[in-house]
Amino acid sequence: MPIPESFLEELNSRTDIVDLVSSYVALSKKGNKYWGLCPFHSEKTASFSVSPDRQMYYCFGCHKGGGAINFVMEVEGLGFVDAVDVLAKRAGLQMPETTSGDGSTRKKRERLLALNKEAARWFHANLSKPGAADGVDYFQKRALTKRTITRFGLGYAPEGWDNLIRAMAEKGYEKADLMDAGLAVKNSNGRIYDRFRHRVMFPIIDVRGNVIGFGGRVLDDSKPKYLNSPDTLVFNKSRNLFALNIAKKTKLGKLILTEGYMDTIALHQAGFDCAVASLGTSLTEDHVKLISNCTKEVIISYDGDQAGINAAQRAIGLLEKSGIEVKVLRVTGAKDPDEFIKTYGPAAFGQLLEGSTNHNEYQLNQIKAKYDLTQDDQRVDYLKEAAAFVARLDSPVEREVYGTRAAEAAGLTPAAMAEEVKRLRTQRRRKARRQEERRALSPAQESQPAERSLRYQNVPSARAEEGVIHLLMLDSENFQYASALQPEHFSSPALGKVFGLLRDKWEKGQVCTMASLSANLTPEEMSLLARIQEKPVSVANGERAMADYITAIRRQRSADTDDALMAFRKSKLSNGGTTE
Ligand code: GTP
Ligand code: MN
Repeated sequence: MPIPESFLEELNSRTDIVDLVSSYVALSKKGNKYWGLCPFHSEKTASFSVSPDRQMYYCFGCHKGGGAINFVMEVEGLGFVDAVDVLAKRAGLQMPETTSGDGSTRKKRERLLALNKEAARWFHANLSKPGAADGVDYFQKRALTKRTITRFGLGYAPEGWDNLIRAMAEKGYEKADLMDAGLAVKNSNGRIYDRFRHRVMFPIIDVRGNVIGFGGRVLDDSKPKYLNSPDTLVFNKSRNLFALNIAKKTKLGKLILTEGYMDTIALHQAGFDCAVASLGTSLTEDHVKLISNCTKEVIISYDGDQAGINAAQRAIGLLEKSGIEVKVLRVTGAKDPDEFIKTYGPAAFGQLLEGSTNHNEYQLNQIKAKYDLTQDDQRVDYLKEAAAFVARLDSPVEREVYGTRAAEAAGLTPAAMAEEVKRLRTQRRRKARRQEERRALSPAQESQPAERSLRYQNVPSARAEEGVIHLLMLDSENFQYASALQPEHFSSPALGKVFGLLRDKWEKGQVCTMASLSANLTPEEMSLLARIQEKPVSVANGERAMADYITAIRRQRSADTDDALMAFRKSKLSNGGTTE
């Protein structure tokens, strides 16, 4: 165990989970809990809860849960030791010296970040060295000012195979470090060389100001046009957005989402300092989380081609789901925002922004464009598809406004549209109710843990086992009634493990709280434990309740043993009774 128990106890006692979570999620108090929008999945109504008395969180939607350390692990994407480190800094505690396990990962991360920063400095400095004319010319051709180049720390990777490797060697970095950072690659002959050569360089900086990766663009028409750092210990494309480090400070109150580095940089140069770009991937749930921490309004400004339209469609869905207001900007007369600004100027782009259609209008326009509305059969199909879209809108006012507009666009009466919408909504409600009923009829399914690997083999026993754990978490004095129980009596290995851990702590006179278990349980096991504690129990009589649970566990065990005996006898019979 790399971190001493006593340190964790001190840390937990100095950390208030409500305080901690509040710096990530807006919470409001209801009853004895705090509620907010879950940071771990997209939702519009709060199902994420924090209990100050138990110092734990639990989401009733995605079933994630745990203590303060788990929260930091999950929300910051860190390992256990790194999360403890974050909390220790917050609490003003000195981390104990650790050498093994995650501690070395933390050191490695720090080393890679330092190397990336050195590399970014070097790429940038190259622009003012002789021999970098190509890079300088390229940025000039793209009309970037000196100020923009400095602001984004743009740079140049010269021709040659090992310029960066040699420059970084002088700073004390080895080839292995450069490979780990994705700055060098090894070919099949075992030769190691610079990944980025003869390219202009775009450093990718996270919201905390770390250089986590790079994009490099060729100077001509060769392929691949852009080369990005691979995912590394410090870089994950689907969790970061280019320029968010700058855009998060914008006063414009929204973000503009673009497809490319150059679009984003051109927008910043034109005064729209709220532009960001996804890094050559489509938008992910992680991106959306990142965005929703900064703003509630996003304007999508992708390329005008079919690929851009498809990508916008997907992005709308994701952003909407987490309650972000989405608008879509239609760039006309240019292939992308970069070209638009170059051709028509910043003021024209500003006007485009003002007039950006809201996404419902955009979606309806997309649907309309698919049909030839002079043909009757196509008008019928259009009505159906448009109605299906309108029926999915939550607000009756929106359904009225967009239903009418969609009908009129095809020369149909609003009443026809309204009727079709009503029919679809009734259909949907029925379907939802049937699903609900089906779920209610299979309580066994409901009582299973969310994580597949933790699924219960014996549900009736597991339910009683959950009860035991719940009683013990409420009050470890209940152990006095559980002396007949051993971890191996549990049918669920995860619950047996929790029981064993709690008993150890109780015997040593240590606290048995959620926070105190983080070091020994996986995040999935912590989530299960949080979930158990959210189930209703009656605790008026701990002794009586414990006895009932223990009886239930015993009964299931002997039923299992009977089954096993029967199976054993059967196999003996079918073997002709010869096995001894
Ligand atoms: P410019 O030609 O420099 O104006 O690029 P652009 O910003 O117009 O980029 P484009 O529309 O071609 O591509 C959008 C984004 O997709 C880029 O910013 C890159 O992140 C990514 N991308 C484009 N081409 C490639 C490629 O060849 N490989 C990879 N990995 N990503 C690419
Ligand atoms: Mn483009």
